[in-house]
Amino acid sequence: MSQQHSAAPAPTSAVSAVEGRPDWWRDAVIYQVYPRSFADGNGDGMGDLEGVRTRLPYLRDLGVDAVWLSPFYASPQADAGYDVADYRAVDPMFGTLLDADALIRDAHALGLRIIVDLVPNHSSDQYEWFKRALAEGPGSPSRDRYHFRPGKGKNGELPPNDWESIFGGPAWTRVTEPDGTPGEWYLHLFAPEQPDFNWEHPAVGDEFRSILRFWLDMGVDGFRIDVAHGMVKAEGLPDLGDHEQLTLLGNDVMPFFDQDGVHDIYREWRLVLDEYSGDRIFVAEAWTPTVERTANYVRPDELHQAFNFQYLATHWDAAELRTVVNRTLDAMRPVGAPATWVLSNHDVTRHATRFANPAGLGTQIRLAGDREVGLRRARAATLLMLALPGSAYVYQGEELGLPDVVDLPDEVRQDPAYFRGAGQDGFRDGCRVPIPWTRTGPSYGFGDGGSWLPQPADWGGLSVEAQTGEPGSTLELYRAALAVRRERADLGAGDAVEWLRAPEGVLAFRRGEFVCVANTTGESVPMPAYGRVLLASGEITEAAGEAKVPADTAVWWSAS
Ligand code: GLC
Repeated sequence: MSQQHSAAPAPTSAVSAVEGRPDWWRDAVIYQVYPRSFADGNGDGMGDLEGVRTRLPYLRDLGVDAVWLSPFYASPQADAGYDVADYRAVDPMFGTLLDADALIRDAHALGLRIIVDLVPNHSSDQYEWFKRALAEGPGSPSRDRYHFRPGKGKNGELPPNDWESIFGGPAWTRVTEPDGTPGEWYLHLFAPEQPDFNWEHPAVGDEFRSILRFWLDMGVDGFRIDVAHGMVKAEGLPDLGDHEQLTLLGNDVMPFFDQDGVHDIYREWRLVLDEYSGDRIFVAEAWTPTVERTANYVRPDELHQAFNFQYLATHWDAAELRTVVNRTLDAMRPVGAPATWVLSNHDVTRHATRFANPAGLGTQIRLAGDREVGLRRARAATLLMLALPGSAYVYQGEELGLPDVVDLPDEVRQDPAYFRGAGQDGFRDGCRVPIPWTRTGPSYGFGDGGSWLPQPADWGGLSVEAQTGEPGSTLELYRAALAVRRERADLGAGDAVEWLRAPEGVLAFRRGEFVCVANTTGESVPMPAYGRVLLASGEITEAAGEAKVPADTAVWWSAS
């Protein structure tokens, strides 16, 4: 069934305009823009598409290949736009479809590709289909597009099963029926405002293939698929029973996550994507128990990439890092997909803060820790990540070395996980604070109208302006690393690393002419000088063929 949608601008950018290597994505560096917090073009305190468009030259100069934008679609913003009310419209808060069109065109003109977020596991409760399902009542066909069930208990007063929402509390909400009586329950793995679609219903698949085409016609270069592991639920929605309730990186296959049936959807989507020219891609947000299961999503007839959350969750520890790198490469090789590497995103504590704290606290931490140590490790971790074969993701602001903001007052928080907080040990607003562009000004250049989450008083010093041209700054380190990666195709290419002997706590590997060493210990270590130092995250001293690699520092060498 079709809905009323705003008309798309004439799709003259239908063919992706970026000239470039086929398979560009195999070693691409992809920059995540969180539109709320990147740049505010209209001065209302909230980032928008116009803000992103005007800052594209910054991203080109940074040296990334593509930009992934978190959702900017029409949404009541119960989960910062991951609750979509119209998949074919831009929320007025972020602009218009014309702004999206202008953004895609300008990005292409600068040689940047655009990846948009697709949210197919659930809609907003304000989506037409869900409103109709509520209005038409139990037994109506419109309810079949979601998971409505009668409750358990004498009067249906208990949820249909024992699943819990990832944001805390039961994964079911009871509705009031049109006649005013308490009625059925509906499933929402996230907030109650995010009802899960029933992907067994053919209309759901039809609708999403049509949404894919809409954005492909707009000229986007790919999709990041939200909760890509969630769409198919186990037959009969069985209780979890003794299974541990979900943490994002579960240890177990859950009845609502990573079900094998989800792969049929991706095979169909791949056929749609492949009708379009321009080497466009899908990347899966799939939190699976193991990298081996993640590899299932990137089989040759499915998706192109999947985020490597096992890597993101790894501590700053050489042995653990080496294990996850090997395991990832081993898991991806048989399916022929590139490995991906990611350290931060809009759902986890920024890595500069994770690494500032003792290992083992998880990926959501509300402690500042030792910021100096955290930044040193974060810089080294970035050089390590960018030396690995495959594609890497950079989350806005990490190139400035931003920490998480751990002391946001409760009254400004917006993350629904905070409000449903039971069982959550951290909240995501701290990594979503608008980024600083200038040393001074009401929101450090984010926009003229303040900032929807308050920025810390010391952010001027971390701004793009303060770091640009500043030798040794984190921004210049990222720029230099990405420039080297562009010059030397060997850095991201291939699917193997050759490990070199190294003292405990140190990682050393060769990739062709190139050697990367990362010292994860708190002490300086002597290493052979492997050639010419290309780049280092700290001060390297060399004498008589030996180099001293300081604590928590990574270095890139070139034999030629
Ligand atoms: C994904 C998004 C997250 C969102 C959730 C529900 O995990 O990255 O921000 O809250 O899906 O859509």
